[in-house]
Amino acid sequence: MNTNNWQEKYADYEFQDNGRSAHRQRKPKKMRESSQPDSIADDILAMDDGIESWVPSYAAALDPLHHERQWVINSVEHFYRENIITDVTRLVKGGKEANVYTCTAHPATGLELVAAKLYRERMLRNLKNDAIYKEGRMLRDAEGKQIRSRRERTAVLNKSGYGLHLDFMMWIGTEYRTQTLLYDAGADVPKPIAHNGSAILMEFIGDEYGAAPALNEVGLDRTEAGPLFHRVLDNVRLLLDHHLIHGDLSAYNILYWDGDIWLIDFPQVVDARANPHALELLQRDVTRVCEYFARYGVEADPVQLTLDMWRPYMREEMNG
Ligand SMILES: Nc1ncnc2c1ncn2[C@@H]1O[C@H](COP(=O)(O)OP(=O)(O)OP(=O)(O)O)[C@@H](O)[C@H]1O
Ligand SMILES: [Mg+2]
Repeated sequence: MNTNNWQEKYADYEFQDNGRSAHRQRKPKKMRESSQPDSIADDILAMDDGIESWVPSYAAALDPLHHERQWVINSVEHFYRENIITDVTRLVKGGKEANVYTCTAHPATGLELVAAKLYRERMLRNLKNDAIYKEGRMLRDAEGKQIRSRRERTAVLNKSGYGLHLDFMMWIGTEYRTQTLLYDAGADVPKPIAHNGSAILMEFIGDEYGAAPALNEVGLDRTEAGPLFHRVLDNVRLLLDHHLIHGDLSAYNILYWDGDIWLIDFPQVVDARANPHALELLQRDVTRVCEYFARYGVEADPVQLTLDMWRPYMREEMNG
């Protein structure tokens, strides 16, 4: 949005105040120190559309001093200004590495709800043994371009404050690009919508009453367990066709809604061509999926299944 165009800004203001969307707080009137007559100062204040002080309803309900309030605003304001979302309404899930929120989508997106995953910078410190996942990854910036600047590469490798910040943006960029590639390839993943330095927006799975539960939170019918198991494995195979291994697949990272499944949470994805631990990570993913479905009587041999995927993949790689 061109914020210099006051007519556009004003139109937006009317739209936002239709009562459907975000809370808009006017900026507090500053102490007037100038000697301007009140009428002129009032006119200037009236022209200020208050865009700097957009406060989504979820944040508005928090104590003004609560750090989450400013964190949410700072992380998603960009998407609000880009007319992708109009509000943040709920916290879906809070974790050590990230929080996921429900947002109201801007009508221009054609969606009703959007999920916003907001990362904490300290997530990299918590990511267990991130070296395993990093092997074979190139240093890339948030847009996926290889980092060539020596200063930036050194910062990342030395884990300086600036380096950790770049690293953080790279992880988010990688998650977003992976999800986009997989969505375009037809995998069962939520449609990615946008990202910035610290957040990813994607299709919301669920409805206005709540987000889809993860597989570990639901009880499946025995009759649907078998087909869903194969659906998950089809997705694992599709990832591998694109040289990718989820790396943290389990019933916690598969959403279930209306009889369908969606794979989520891709920051730890690895490149099967370059990562020396690829096979063991693939086997771990497949094993966890098998363990979950075993409780519904689905019988499978995870080692055999892994090899049945890996061997043709490697054959293709070597021939091709
Ligand atoms: N697209 C989505 N639509 C609806 N809910 C979602 C979506 N993505 C994530 N969630 C919700 O947020 C939770 C956490 O998401 P995700 O696994 O991506 O983050 P995480 O930081 O790894 O959290 P955890 O450590 O709990 O796995 C999911 O279990 C699900 O409840
Ligand atoms: Mg997760």
